[in-house]
Amino acid sequence: MPAIVRLAETSAPKAARTSDLPIDLAVGGLCKAFRGAGPVLCDIDLEIRRGEAVALIGANGSGKSTLLRCALRLIEPDSGSVQLFGSDVGKASRARLCRLRARVGLVSQRHNLVPRLSVLSNVLHGAQARRSGPRIWYQSLAPHTERAEAMDCLDRVGLAHLAGRRADQLSGGQSQRVAIARALMQAPDLVLADEPVASLDPAAGEEVMRLFVDLTRWRGLTLVFVSHDLDHALTYADRVIGLRGGRLTLDQPAARLDVDALRGIYG
Ligand SMILES: Nc1ncnc2c1ncn2[C@@H]1O[C@H](COP(=O)(O)OP(=O)(O)OP(=O)(O)O)[C@@H](O)[C@H]1O
Ligand SMILES: [Mg+2]
Repeated sequence: MPAIVRLAETSAPKAARTSDLPIDLAVGGLCKAFRGAGPVLCDIDLEIRRGEAVALIGANGSGKSTLLRCALRLIEPDSGSVQLFGSDVGKASRARLCRLRARVGLVSQRHNLVPRLSVLSNVLHGAQARRSGPRIWYQSLAPHTERAEAMDCLDRVGLAHLAGRRADQLSGGQSQRVAIARALMQAPDLVLADEPVASLDPAAGEEVMRLFVDLTRWRGLTLVFVSHDLDHALTYADRVIGLRGGRLTLDQPAARLDVDALRGIYG
């Protein structure tokens, strides 16, 4: 696929010492309970540095999505702190919070494309997320440079030839690749991906996951992805963290883990 070839040509060197890199996401003493559901997150401490690829695993209902949503303050935690790029999310003004969120690309299980718009227009929406104001770019209104950038993002995910197709005429795998192109168009520093390939068949899931991780590494982005696929966690992450019973009970480099060790988080 052309996207993979281009990645190989442009791979960026990894930084020599991880500890020198800035902390993009820091969570301290985070607690969250929902009425009726009891405590979901209890005293979570976590630091994720620039360029790390981190898999977040845990059984259904263990709080993975809640943790990602607290990181963006889409859910208000009961106590504890969250810092994004060194700024306290809980104390940020509305404007500051918008600027912090603009640096985070969100990819979810449901790709949330606008069905009636073209693939290219959907990718252009990623550019909207990085600027303030309610302007929406449609394909025909976007400046030439932005269209060229969106086409490049589509080329990266191997879908430039489908730029003019309506989003509701794509397969699940193609839709998820467009969602990744849209997130890249946002030019984020950090990507939070909540089960990005869960709706895809195993072959498409493998292909999209590899592409996704290659692209984030090539751009030097920090990546946190939720997955129930333990092979994906071990293959595509530098580090695996796991939630169980509301607590972070696993935080290890992927190289030191195997599938049996990860299964313990579900036991
Ligand atoms: N808005 C909410 N109101 C009440 N309870 C909620 C809310 N959001 C999540 N919960 C509960 O919090 C718990 C954790 O949910 P969360 O979605 O974070 O789990 P998860 O680890 O992402 O699970 P899955 O693997 O199924 O996606 C669940 O028991 C869920 O029912
Ligand atoms: Mg979830």
